[in-house]
Amino acid sequence: MNSWNGLLKQYKDYLPISENTPGLSLNEGNTPLLKLDQLSQELGISLYVKIEGANPTGSFKDRGMVMAVAKAKEDGSDAIICASTGNTAAAAAAYGARAGLRCIIVIPKGKVALGKLAQAMIYGAEIFEIDGNFDEALRMVRNIAETEPIALVNSVNPYRLEGQKTAAFEVCDQLGKAPDVLAIPVGNAGNISAYWKGFKEYVNDGKRPQMRGFEAEGSAAIVQNRIIPNPETVATAIRIGNPASWHLAEEAVLESQGKMDFVTDEEILDAYQELAKKEGVFAEPASCASVAGVMKQVASGEIEKGSSVVAVLTGNGLKDPSTAMDNVLVKPRVVEADKEKFMEELKGCVSH
Ligand code: F0G
Repeated sequence: MNSWNGLLKQYKDYLPISENTPGLSLNEGNTPLLKLDQLSQELGISLYVKIEGANPTGSFKDRGMVMAVAKAKEDGSDAIICASTGNTAAAAAAYGARAGLRCIIVIPKGKVALGKLAQAMIYGAEIFEIDGNFDEALRMVRNIAETEPIALVNSVNPYRLEGQKTAAFEVCDQLGKAPDVLAIPVGNAGNISAYWKGFKEYVNDGKRPQMRGFEAEGSAAIVQNRIIPNPETVATAIRIGNPASWHLAEEAVLESQGKMDFVTDEEILDAYQELAKKEGVFAEPASCASVAGVMKQVASGEIEKGSSVVAVLTGNGLKDPSTAMDNVLVKPRVVEADKEKFMEELKGCVSH
Protein backbone atom coordinates (compact mmCIF):
# COMPACT_ATOMS: atom_id res chain seq x y z
CA MET A 1 0.00 0.00 0.00
CA ASN A 2 1.38 3.38 -0.99
CA SER A 3 1.82 5.51 2.12
CA TRP A 4 2.28 8.74 0.13
CA ASN A 5 -0.98 10.64 -0.17
CA GLY A 6 0.10 13.95 -1.64
CA LEU A 7 1.49 17.18 -0.24
CA LEU A 8 -1.44 18.48 1.77
CA LYS A 9 -1.44 15.34 3.94
CA GLN A 10 2.31 14.89 4.09
CA TYR A 11 3.18 18.46 5.08
CA LYS A 12 -0.01 19.62 6.78
CA ASP A 13 1.94 20.97 9.74
CA TYR A 14 3.91 23.27 7.46
CA LEU A 15 1.02 24.42 5.27
CA PRO A 16 -1.91 26.80 5.80
CA ILE A 17 -4.40 23.98 6.20
CA SER A 18 -7.51 24.23 8.36
CA GLU A 19 -10.19 21.66 9.11
CA ASN A 20 -12.18 23.18 6.23
CA THR A 21 -9.45 22.76 3.63
CA PRO A 22 -10.49 20.02 1.20
CA GLY A 23 -8.12 17.05 0.95
CA LEU A 24 -7.32 17.70 -2.69
CA SER A 25 -4.64 15.51 -4.24
CA LEU A 26 -3.38 13.94 -7.43
CA ASN A 27 -0.61 12.36 -5.36
CA GLU A 28 1.84 15.14 -6.19
CA GLY A 29 5.27 15.53 -4.60
CA ASN A 30 7.71 12.84 -3.45
CA THR A 31 9.66 13.23 -6.69
CA PRO A 32 13.04 11.52 -7.23
CA LEU A 33 16.36 13.10 -6.31
CA LEU A 34 18.78 11.47 -8.72
CA LYS A 35 22.58 11.57 -8.64
CA LEU A 36 24.09 12.30 -12.06
CA ASP A 37 27.14 10.02 -12.04
CA GLN A 38 28.71 10.94 -15.34
CA LEU A 39 28.24 14.71 -15.07
CA SER A 40 29.34 14.70 -11.42
CA GLN A 41 32.58 13.10 -12.46
CA GLU A 42 33.13 15.44 -15.38
CA LEU A 43 32.40 18.55 -13.32
CA GLY A 44 34.16 17.45 -10.11
CA ILE A 45 31.10 18.03 -7.94
CA SER A 46 28.30 15.86 -6.50
CA LEU A 47 25.46 16.77 -8.82
CA TYR A 48 21.90 15.71 -8.13
CA VAL A 49 18.72 16.58 -9.97
CA LYS A 50 15.29 16.98 -8.40
CA ILE A 51 13.03 15.51 -11.06
CA GLU A 52 9.90 17.63 -10.83
CA GLY A 53 8.73 16.29 -14.17
CA ALA A 54 7.64 13.22 -12.20
CA ASN A 55 4.71 15.16 -10.72
CA PRO A 56 1.20 14.24 -11.94
CA THR A 57 1.00 16.87 -14.70
CA GLY A 58 4.73 16.70 -15.37
CA SER A 59 5.98 19.85 -13.66
CA PHE A 60 6.65 21.44 -10.25
CA LYS A 61 3.51 23.53 -10.65
CA ASP A 62 1.44 20.73 -9.12
CA ARG A 63 2.95 21.48 -5.70
CA GLY A 64 1.70 25.03 -5.66
CA MET A 65 -1.49 24.35 -7.52
CA VAL A 66 -2.81 21.71 -5.14
CA MET A 67 -2.56 24.24 -2.31
CA ALA A 68 -3.95 27.20 -4.27
CA VAL A 69 -6.89 25.26 -5.68
CA ALA A 70 -7.72 23.67 -2.31
CA LYS A 71 -7.84 27.16 -0.78
CA ALA A 72 -9.93 28.53 -3.66
CA LYS A 73 -12.40 25.72 -3.06
CA GLU A 74 -12.34 26.31 0.70
CA ASP A 75 -13.06 30.01 0.14
CA GLY A 76 -16.10 29.15 -1.97
CA SER A 77 -14.76 30.12 -5.42
CA ASP A 78 -16.45 28.53 -8.41
CA ALA A 79 -13.69 29.43 -10.83
CA ILE A 80 -9.93 29.84 -11.06
CA ILE A 81 -7.94 31.92 -13.55
CA CYS A 82 -4.28 32.15 -14.53
CA ALA A 83 -1.86 33.42 -17.15
CA SER A 84 0.71 30.89 -18.19
CA THR A 85 3.61 29.90 -20.40
CA GLY A 86 2.05 26.42 -20.26
CA ASN A 87 2.85 24.45 -17.13
CA THR A 88 0.78 26.54 -14.75
CA ALA A 89 -2.08 26.15 -17.22
CA ALA A 90 -1.75 22.36 -17.28
CA ALA A 91 -1.63 22.15 -13.49
CA ALA A 92 -4.51 24.60 -12.97
CA ALA A 93 -6.62 22.71 -15.47
CA ALA A 94 -5.92 19.35 -13.83
CA TYR A 95 -6.51 20.46 -10.23
CA GLY A 96 -9.46 22.58 -11.32
CA ALA A 97 -11.01 19.49 -12.91
CA ARG A 98 -10.29 17.42 -9.80
CA ALA A 99 -11.88 20.05 -7.54
CA GLY A 100 -14.85 20.66 -9.85
CA LEU A 101 -13.99 24.30 -10.59
CA ARG A 102 -14.25 26.24 -13.81
CA CYS A 103 -10.73 26.95 -15.08
CA ILE A 104 -9.89 29.95 -17.26
CA ILE A 105 -6.47 30.21 -18.86
CA VAL A 106 -4.73 33.01 -20.77
CA ILE A 107 -1.63 32.14 -22.79
CA PRO A 108 0.71 33.86 -25.27
CA LYS A 109 -0.33 32.69 -28.73
CA GLY A 110 2.13 30.38 -30.47
CA LYS A 111 4.54 30.32 -27.52
CA VAL A 112 3.23 27.41 -25.46
CA ALA A 113 4.80 23.98 -25.96
CA LEU A 114 2.52 21.41 -27.55
CA GLY A 115 2.29 18.97 -24.66
CA LYS A 116 1.22 21.68 -22.22
CA LEU A 117 -1.49 22.99 -24.50
CA ALA A 118 -2.77 19.45 -25.09
CA GLN A 119 -2.95 18.92 -21.33
CA ALA A 120 -4.88 22.11 -20.63
CA MET A 121 -7.31 21.21 -23.42
CA ILE A 122 -7.97 17.64 -22.38
CA TYR A 123 -8.52 18.63 -18.73
CA GLY A 124 -11.32 20.84 -20.01
CA ALA A 125 -10.02 24.34 -19.31
CA GLU A 126 -11.33 27.39 -21.18
CA ILE A 127 -8.28 28.66 -23.02
CA PHE A 128 -7.73 32.15 -24.40
CA GLU A 129 -4.70 33.02 -26.54
CA ILE A 130 -3.52 36.62 -26.70
CA ASP A 131 -1.33 38.35 -29.23
CA GLY A 132 1.06 39.29 -26.49
CA ASN A 133 3.51 37.75 -24.04
CA PHE A 134 3.15 36.19 -20.60
CA ASP A 135 3.69 39.47 -18.78
CA GLU A 136 0.73 41.03 -20.60
CA ALA A 137 -1.42 37.98 -19.95
CA LEU A 138 -0.57 38.13 -16.24
CA ARG A 139 -1.44 41.82 -16.06
CA MET A 140 -4.83 41.04 -17.60
CA VAL A 141 -5.77 38.20 -15.29
CA ARG A 142 -4.60 40.11 -12.20
CA ASN A 143 -6.96 42.93 -13.13
CA ILE A 144 -9.84 40.55 -13.75
CA ALA A 145 -9.34 38.72 -10.44
CA GLU A 146 -9.49 42.06 -8.60
CA THR A 147 -13.03 42.74 -9.73
CA GLU A 148 -14.53 39.31 -10.44
CA PRO A 149 -15.21 36.47 -7.98
CA ILE A 150 -12.56 34.31 -9.61
CA ALA A 151 -9.52 33.00 -7.73
CA LEU A 152 -6.18 33.94 -9.28
CA VAL A 153 -3.86 30.93 -9.14
CA ASN A 154 -0.65 32.43 -10.52
CA SER A 155 2.31 32.46 -8.14
CA VAL A 156 1.35 35.96 -6.93
CA ASN A 157 -1.19 33.93 -4.96
CA PRO A 158 0.79 33.21 -1.76
CA TYR A 159 -0.67 29.70 -1.44
CA ARG A 160 1.23 28.75 -4.57
CA LEU A 161 4.59 29.45 -2.93
CA GLU A 162 3.45 27.64 0.22
CA GLY A 163 2.88 24.47 -1.78
CA GLN A 164 6.04 24.85 -3.81
CA LYS A 165 8.28 25.25 -0.75
CA THR A 166 7.72 21.55 0.02
CA ALA A 167 10.24 20.62 -2.67
CA ALA A 168 12.97 22.10 -0.44
CA PHE A 169 11.80 19.85 2.41
CA GLU A 170 12.10 16.81 0.18
CA VAL A 171 15.58 17.78 -1.02
CA CYS A 172 16.79 17.99 2.59
CA ASP A 173 15.24 14.67 3.54
CA GLN A 174 16.47 12.86 0.44
CA LEU A 175 20.01 14.18 0.71
CA GLY A 176 20.13 13.93 4.51
CA LYS A 177 21.01 17.63 4.66
CA ALA A 178 20.71 20.75 2.55
CA PRO A 179 23.08 20.84 -0.45
CA ASP A 180 25.82 23.49 -0.73
CA VAL A 181 24.15 24.91 -3.84
CA LEU A 182 20.58 24.86 -5.14
CA ALA A 183 20.45 25.68 -8.85
CA ILE A 184 17.09 26.59 -10.33
CA PRO A 185 15.60 28.07 -13.51
CA VAL A 186 13.97 31.47 -13.07
CA GLY A 187 11.03 32.80 -15.03
CA ASN A 188 8.39 34.57 -12.98
CA ALA A 189 10.70 33.99 -9.98
CA GLY A 190 8.13 32.26 -7.77
CA ASN A 191 9.88 28.94 -7.47
CA ILE A 192 13.27 30.23 -6.32
CA SER A 193 11.41 32.28 -3.70
CA ALA A 194 9.41 29.23 -2.61
CA TYR A 195 12.48 27.01 -2.26
CA TRP A 196 14.26 29.61 -0.15
CA LYS A 197 11.20 29.92 2.09
CA GLY A 198 11.20 26.13 2.39
CA PHE A 199 14.88 25.94 3.33
CA LYS A 200 14.47 28.68 5.91
CA GLU A 201 11.54 26.87 7.54
CA TYR A 202 13.07 23.39 7.41
CA VAL A 203 16.78 23.89 8.15
CA ASN A 204 17.21 25.28 11.63
CA ASP A 205 20.65 24.18 12.73
CA GLY A 206 22.53 23.10 9.64
CA LYS A 207 23.77 25.09 6.69
CA ARG A 208 21.30 26.36 4.13
CA PRO A 209 22.19 26.26 0.43
CA GLN A 210 23.31 29.13 -1.75
CA MET A 211 20.44 29.87 -4.09
CA ARG A 212 21.65 30.17 -7.66
CA GLY A 213 18.95 31.21 -10.09
CA PHE A 214 19.26 31.09 -13.87
CA GLU A 215 17.28 33.17 -16.30
CA ALA A 216 17.48 32.74 -20.07
CA GLU A 217 19.74 35.34 -21.70
CA GLY A 218 16.93 36.84 -23.82
CA SER A 219 14.66 37.30 -20.81
CA ALA A 220 17.15 38.03 -18.05
CA ALA A 221 15.27 40.89 -16.40
CA ILE A 222 16.58 40.37 -12.87
CA VAL A 223 20.20 39.96 -13.98
CA GLN A 224 20.02 43.08 -16.13
CA ASN A 225 17.94 44.91 -13.54
CA ARG A 226 15.41 46.12 -16.11
CA ILE A 227 12.09 44.99 -17.53
CA ILE A 228 12.53 43.23 -20.87
CA PRO A 229 9.60 44.31 -23.07
CA ASN A 230 10.02 41.54 -25.67
CA PRO A 231 11.57 38.52 -23.96
CA GLU A 232 12.78 35.71 -26.21
CA THR A 233 14.23 32.26 -25.56
CA VAL A 234 13.94 28.70 -26.81
CA ALA A 235 12.93 27.89 -23.23
CA THR A 236 9.37 29.19 -23.65
CA ALA A 237 8.45 28.30 -20.06
CA ILE A 238 10.73 31.09 -18.78
CA ARG A 239 10.09 33.60 -21.56
CA ILE A 240 9.20 36.29 -19.04
CA GLY A 241 10.41 39.90 -19.01
CA ASN A 242 8.89 41.27 -15.82
CA PRO A 243 8.95 38.59 -13.11
CA ALA A 244 6.20 38.98 -10.52
CA SER A 245 8.35 37.72 -7.61
CA TRP A 246 11.39 39.76 -8.66
CA HIS A 247 12.04 41.19 -5.18
CA LEU A 248 11.48 37.94 -3.31
CA ALA A 249 13.95 36.26 -5.65
CA GLU A 250 16.54 38.98 -5.07
CA GLU A 251 16.08 38.54 -1.35
CA ALA A 252 16.57 34.78 -1.64
CA VAL A 253 19.81 35.26 -3.54
CA LEU A 254 21.08 37.92 -1.16
CA GLU A 255 20.18 36.12 2.06
CA SER A 256 21.68 32.84 0.86
CA GLN A 257 24.81 34.43 -0.58
CA GLY A 258 23.92 32.97 -3.94
CA LYS A 259 23.67 34.61 -7.33
CA MET A 260 21.21 35.45 -10.08
CA ASP A 261 22.79 34.61 -13.42
CA PHE A 262 21.76 33.87 -16.98
CA VAL A 263 22.44 31.14 -19.53
CA THR A 264 22.27 31.36 -23.31
CA ASP A 265 19.87 29.31 -25.41
CA GLU A 266 22.88 27.42 -26.71
CA GLU A 267 23.98 26.53 -23.19
CA ILE A 268 20.42 25.45 -22.35
CA LEU A 269 20.20 23.19 -25.39
CA ASP A 270 23.66 21.71 -24.71
CA ALA A 271 22.64 20.81 -21.17
CA TYR A 272 19.31 19.46 -22.50
CA GLN A 273 21.12 17.01 -24.75
CA GLU A 274 23.87 16.11 -22.28
CA LEU A 275 21.31 15.24 -19.64
CA ALA A 276 19.41 12.99 -22.01
CA LYS A 277 22.39 11.31 -23.65
CA LYS A 278 24.72 10.92 -20.69
CA GLU A 279 22.23 10.43 -17.85
CA GLY A 280 18.99 9.19 -19.43
CA VAL A 281 17.09 12.18 -18.08
CA PHE A 282 14.71 14.03 -20.39
CA ALA A 283 13.73 17.43 -19.00
CA GLU A 284 12.13 20.32 -20.84
CA PRO A 285 14.44 23.11 -22.07
CA ALA A 286 13.61 25.66 -19.35
CA SER A 287 14.44 23.05 -16.71
CA CYS A 288 17.86 22.60 -18.18
CA ALA A 289 18.75 26.22 -17.44
CA SER A 290 19.63 24.94 -13.96
CA VAL A 291 22.12 22.34 -15.18
CA ALA A 292 23.46 24.73 -17.84
CA GLY A 293 24.01 27.26 -15.07
CA VAL A 294 25.86 24.73 -12.94
CA MET A 295 28.15 23.92 -15.87
CA LYS A 296 28.78 27.63 -16.44
CA GLN A 297 29.58 28.36 -12.79
CA VAL A 298 31.79 25.31 -12.30
CA ALA A 299 33.79 26.47 -15.32
CA SER A 300 34.04 30.00 -13.91
CA GLY A 301 35.00 28.73 -10.45
CA GLU A 302 31.91 30.24 -8.82
CA ILE A 303 30.80 26.76 -7.83
CA GLU A 304 33.69 25.11 -6.04
CA LYS A 305 34.91 21.64 -6.92
CA GLY A 306 33.66 19.06 -4.43
CA SER A 307 30.42 20.96 -3.73
CA SER A 308 27.13 19.14 -3.38
CA VAL A 309 24.74 20.69 -5.87
CA VAL A 310 21.06 20.06 -6.47
CA ALA A 311 19.71 21.30 -9.81
CA VAL A 312 15.95 21.50 -10.07
CA LEU A 313 14.54 20.00 -13.26
CA THR A 314 11.21 21.74 -13.25
CA GLY A 315 9.38 20.00 -16.10
CA ASN A 316 9.23 16.79 -18.11
CA GLY A 317 10.88 16.70 -21.54
CA LEU A 318 7.71 15.30 -23.11
CA LYS A 319 6.04 18.65 -22.54
CA ASP A 320 7.88 20.06 -25.53
CA PRO A 321 8.38 17.38 -28.21
CA SER A 322 9.01 19.96 -30.95
CA THR A 323 12.19 21.28 -29.37
CA ALA A 324 13.49 17.72 -29.04
CA MET A 325 12.74 16.96 -32.68
CA ASP A 326 14.30 20.23 -33.85
CA ASN A 327 17.53 19.77 -31.93
CA VAL A 328 18.49 16.17 -32.50
CA LEU A 329 20.58 15.72 -35.61
CA VAL A 330 20.23 11.96 -35.91
CA LYS A 331 16.74 11.20 -37.17
CA PRO A 332 15.11 7.77 -37.43
CA ARG A 333 16.18 5.90 -40.58
CA VAL A 334 13.75 4.14 -42.86
CA VAL A 335 14.49 0.44 -43.49
CA GLU A 336 12.67 -2.30 -45.30
CA ALA A 337 10.80 -4.80 -43.14
CA ASP A 338 13.33 -7.47 -44.04
CA LYS A 339 15.84 -8.91 -41.58
CA GLU A 340 18.73 -9.30 -44.03
CA LYS A 341 18.42 -5.76 -45.34
CA PHE A 342 18.06 -4.45 -41.82
CA MET A 343 21.25 -6.27 -40.78
CA GLU A 344 23.11 -4.69 -43.69
CA GLU A 345 21.91 -1.25 -42.66
CA LEU A 346 22.86 -1.95 -39.07
CA LYS A 347 26.39 -3.08 -39.96
CA GLY A 348 26.77 -0.02 -42.13
CA CYS A 349 25.68 2.05 -39.18
CA VAL A 350 28.09 0.39 -36.72
CA SER A 351 31.12 0.63 -39.02
CA HIS A 352 30.64 4.34 -39.58
N1 F0G B 1 10.62 25.81 -15.37
C1 F0G B 1 9.44 25.53 -15.95
C2 F0G B 1 9.32 24.24 -16.67
C3 F0G B 1 8.36 26.44 -15.85
O1 F0G B 1 7.20 26.14 -16.43
C4 F0G B 1 8.55 27.65 -15.17
C5 F0G B 1 7.47 28.64 -15.07
C6 F0G B 1 9.80 27.88 -14.58
C7 F0G B 1 10.80 26.95 -14.70
C8 F0G B 1 10.09 29.12 -13.82
O2 F0G B 1 9.48 29.14 -12.58
O3 F0G B 1 8.17 31.20 -12.87
O4 F0G B 1 8.52 30.19 -10.63
O5 F0G B 1 10.40 31.28 -11.82
N2 F0G B 1 6.40 28.55 -15.69
C9 F0G B 1 5.24 29.44 -15.51
C10 F0G B 1 4.02 28.90 -16.24
C11 F0G B 1 5.51 30.85 -15.75
O6 F0G B 1 3.14 29.66 -16.61
O7 F0G B 1 3.93 27.68 -16.39
P1 F0G B 1 9.12 30.54 -11.92
